[in-house]
Amino acid sequence: MHFIIEEDGEGIVRELSSDLDKLRGRTVLATGFSGFVGTYISNLVLRANRTVLKGEPCRFVGIDNFARGRADWVDEIAKSPAVTVIDHDISQRLPHALDALRVDYILHAASIASPTYYRLHPIETMDANVQGLRGLLDFALKHRDTLRGFLFFSSSEVYGDPTPENIPTPETYTGNVSFSGPRACYDEAKRFGETLCVNFHRVHGLPINSVRPFNNYGPGLKLGDRRVIPDFFRDVLAKKDIVLLSDGKPTRTFSYIADAVAGYFKVLLSAPGGEAFNIGVDKPEISIRELAEAVIKVSAEVLDIRVELRFQQSDDSAYLSDNPLRRCPDISKARRLLNFNPRTTLAEGLRRTALWYRDNQKIDDR
Ligand SMILES: NC(=O)c1ccc[n+]([C@@H]2O[C@H](COP(=O)([O-])OP(=O)(O)OC[C@H]3O[C@@H](n4cnc5c(N)ncnc54)[C@H](O)[C@@H]3O)[C@@H](O)[C@H]2O)c1
Repeated sequence: MHFIIEEDGEGIVRELSSDLDKLRGRTVLATGFSGFVGTYISNLVLRANRTVLKGEPCRFVGIDNFARGRADWVDEIAKSPAVTVIDHDISQRLPHALDALRVDYILHAASIASPTYYRLHPIETMDANVQGLRGLLDFALKHRDTLRGFLFFSSSEVYGDPTPENIPTPETYTGNVSFSGPRACYDEAKRFGETLCVNFHRVHGLPINSVRPFNNYGPGLKLGDRRVIPDFFRDVLAKKDIVLLSDGKPTRTFSYIADAVAGYFKVLLSAPGGEAFNIGVDKPEISIRELAEAVIKVSAEVLDIRVELRFQQSDDSAYLSDNPLRRCPDISKARRLLNFNPRTTLAEGLRRTALWYRDNQKIDDR
């Protein structure tokens, strides 16, 4: 893996310290393992095997349909005797080969996550989050005697466009979400996914939690992904000005992937079950315009590429429909219960991201 991802992996191992002992000799099954978040999940487990779990490694089973391309490192990690790679669409019945496995931890991260792509493939998006999740929950139930943790990747999008008094948004906010707009296939599938999770916890007592990621960014988020930070770097690397298709006023917080993945594993390994946690950062909350300016600055410093910022109207009339004006999490629950402690500043996170994009410029527009 790229040296920045390896360095980040080392930091996550340090941050999780003795929590990782819980993986000793266990089996972790992760769906969507070849995606952005999955890259960090896979790397963390394999790094833990080489370091803190040496001698008693954790077995890693990665499932992905590679719909958005197959990461270069997948074939590399598949050579490890501790790794099983399964090419499978999670919305279809799970392969029988899995029944024979004893699985201790499950992370369900398979879903189309980029708004551009989930609007192109709304049914596949709902299927991965509803049918795919249901299949995994039934599988978890069969393995209830060994199962120690199940993590569903929900989204901050479950809150929709929060009313001003609900920002920063706590987990108790129930949302202001369209059930039929262009983003509903994603938002409502995540909401129903969480409903499935809490009810499997209540009825069957399974150790299931949901995480609600708030705008993760960093190495592994492909240039062709169409989320805002890769879009900006894509322009920079093409030596084109950054063009904003809005007035740039909506605000967001941006969470560096290494901090977020440490948070996800804290929830997986230590949360009580039946809970949902916001995972992100609560400051700085910046406008998209300020974000573009920060990318322009870091690109000049790290990549020696100088571009400017311009504004233009989108040709796609639905481009900004239901796009929330503000998005900022209240992360006090994860701080208090799990000692979640994101540390990477935006400037440092963007610097690390720029270094990865410098070395990973392949664009896979699928
Ligand atoms: N990255 C973020 O900021 C963010 C924010 C909110 C929620 N999430 C959630 O976290 C999870 C991971 O997001 P990501 O950013 O890594 O997305 P990603 O698109 O980079 O990766 C998703 C992976 O899932 C795979 N996948 C998609 N549908 C599948 C299917 N039906 N069967 C098997 N594999 C399938 C893709 O091939 C891809 O490798 C997703 O559930 C996403 O909704 C991420």
